[in-house]
Amino acid sequence: MNDVWASYDSKNFVLKEITLSIERGINYAIVGQSGSGKSTLLKLINGIMTPSKGVIKTDYQTPNMADRKFKLMMSKIGYIPQNLGLIKNVSVLENILIGALPRISKTKSLFKMFPEKEIQEAEKILKLVGLEDKSERKAYMLSGGEKRRVAIARALMQKPEILLADEIVSELDRVTAKEILDLISEAQHRISLTAVIVHHDMRLALEYADRVAVIKEGLKILEIGVEGDEIVDFQTGNISQQEIMELYQNEPKK
Ligand SMILES: Nc1ncnc2c1ncn2[C@@H]1O[C@H](COP(=O)(O)OP(=O)(O)OP(=O)(O)O)[C@@H](O)[C@H]1O
Ligand SMILES: [Mg+2]
Repeated sequence: MNDVWASYDSKNFVLKEITLSIERGINYAIVGQSGSGKSTLLKLINGIMTPSKGVIKTDYQTPNMADRKFKLMMSKIGYIPQNLGLIKNVSVLENILIGALPRISKTKSLFKMFPEKEIQEAEKILKLVGLEDKSERKAYMLSGGEKRRVAIARALMQKPEILLADEIVSELDRVTAKEILDLISEAQHRISLTAVIVHHDMRLALEYADRVAVIKEGLKILEIGVEGDEIVDFQTGNISQQEIMELYQNEPKK
């Protein structure tokens, strides 16, 4: 992203001067207070929204959902929205199979005729996320943590190259949050995956991500990472370890 500005009403900018670069294969976190623009940032990477100003390239292409060429590559992007986007009245297995839709012919998908190969794949992924015994359960009958696992499984089913996940571990206890983030890390090692994850908790973000961008009121105010046992500021290079720690301790909770 190069000097990207975004607005919902073409008057007020919710993201300003965003310049950042996310390398292939890394785990990149976005952290910031509620309303700072984190979800908007993911929507821009994904082409759900287009910037008012500036340049974005996702895998060398300008993201825009309305563009046919970009639409073709959208199957490479696994997006887990903040509300997860599961179909409530449909079973866990079928929710996961939705991830395979881009690979399946229109008529087959219309009648939910999933090839046996895809069903086996979905069952494999279901096991991976620890939900093999809940495959027939309707999505609305799951706990918050289980729903998040289904959303991750659906995204993995897509065989993505890029995973965009919006606060999938917020409001979960630390153990469950870590289990879910471990799942993503494990997938990253297995299928070299670029992950961009929005976090509420700076500590979890630093634990899992190679880089953390901190957004405040639409501006990227910091870009940090851990090198050895030091927190390094990649954005300006002149914020001290102590200042970063202070900022991090003051990070307000939702
Ligand atoms: N569809 C929309 N129409 C108008 N304004 C919006 C819309 N979606 C978000 N906004 C505004 O844009 C700003 C950034 O919103 P965004 O959803 O990106 O924040 P966020 O950092 O993801 O917040 P949260 O942590 O609460 O999810 C906020 O001021 C919000 O009110
Ligand atoms: Mg959000």
